[in-house]
Amino acid sequence: MKALIAAGGKGTRLRPLTYTTSKPLIPIANRPMLFYILDEIEKAGIKDVVININKGITEIPDAIRKENSWDLKITYIEQEKPLGIAHVVKIAEKKLKDSPFVYYLGDNILKGGINEYLNEFTSNNCICHILLSKVRDPERFGVALFNKKGKIVKLVEKPKKHISDFALTGVYFFTPEIYKAIDKLKPSKRGELEITDAISWLIRHKYPVTYSKVTGWWKDTGQVRDLLEGNQLILGDIDCDIEGKVSSDCTLEGKIKIGRKSVISDETTIRGPAIIGKNCRIKKSYIGPYTSIGDNVEITDTEIENSIVMPCSKINSSARIVDSLIGFNAKITSHKQTFPSGHKIVVGDYSNVEL
Ligand code: G1P
Repeated sequence: MKALIAAGGKGTRLRPLTYTTSKPLIPIANRPMLFYILDEIEKAGIKDVVININKGITEIPDAIRKENSWDLKITYIEQEKPLGIAHVVKIAEKKLKDSPFVYYLGDNILKGGINEYLNEFTSNNCICHILLSKVRDPERFGVALFNKKGKIVKLVEKPKKHISDFALTGVYFFTPEIYKAIDKLKPSKRGELEITDAISWLIRHKYPVTYSKVTGWWKDTGQVRDLLEGNQLILGDIDCDIEGKVSSDCTLEGKIKIGRKSVISDETTIRGPAIIGKNCRIKKSYIGPYTSIGDNVEITDTEIENSIVMPCSKINSSARIVDSLIGFNAKITSHKQTFPSGHKIVVGDYSNVEL
């Protein structure tokens, strides 16, 4: 068994962050999303991993090399253009050879890992096993339709009308028969080779395609709201671990992690679950539940809750910040600190600000 991870694409729905950071490296609870996937692949006993990245991207291999915490043989393939997630499988064939493999889309988080589903795939003796999850917004996903016996009869990518509540998650198990199906594909309306169409081809040609319903938490982190939910999911499971310094006038409530060399002072309250990275300075502030603060962040005189703050940012604002995603090296100050008063903002292309 091998693994293929799709870590390319443009991440348009997470702009402007994805202009400068590859989507799978956006941190959730202070770790890139991609690292959670590598953890799960390793836990499933898989050794050989192929990661698809955009052409010329070095930050993903660099980040993995730097973390260096998996006993995995990782190789990379480059996709010249984003031609679809089935196209990724096509170009990975020369590396995956005749091995069965799990295909993991790099923006998916699956609580509880893949072991259970991998066992089902191998014991079912099928050629494709998919994971389905009941969702409230099926129009955002590929969906599955069943017959009375509960067998999948059809898959439809992003249906306009409601036809099923069961979305395809971005985790698929395949045998090499899938290459045959991909060879028959034509680009979809969005100009891409769709994996949903490849699996539909298998179903139409009577190949055994089975499924599991995901019992735990699954999230496609395509949008800011989803990323924040993913952050909640991971923070919900953290253990307390205070390595930094917390002065006696501060209050810590609930499960909180504070990294080395961080200093929490001046009557700050932190209400967990929350994680503060290494070397942060937090003064006179309130850090509320489900907040992840990256390394080297400074926060003064600010209330922040249910948010992700990426490394090296500085926030000094008397405002209350909620449900927000703050990029690397960002600076947020109070509009009252300089004249003329009023909000002075430099907002990147495709940003989203609520004042
Ligand atoms: C892709 C698949 C879709 C699936 C989703 C899961 O969508 O095409 O069938 O439900 O991943 O994350 P995309 O994220 O490319 O829009």
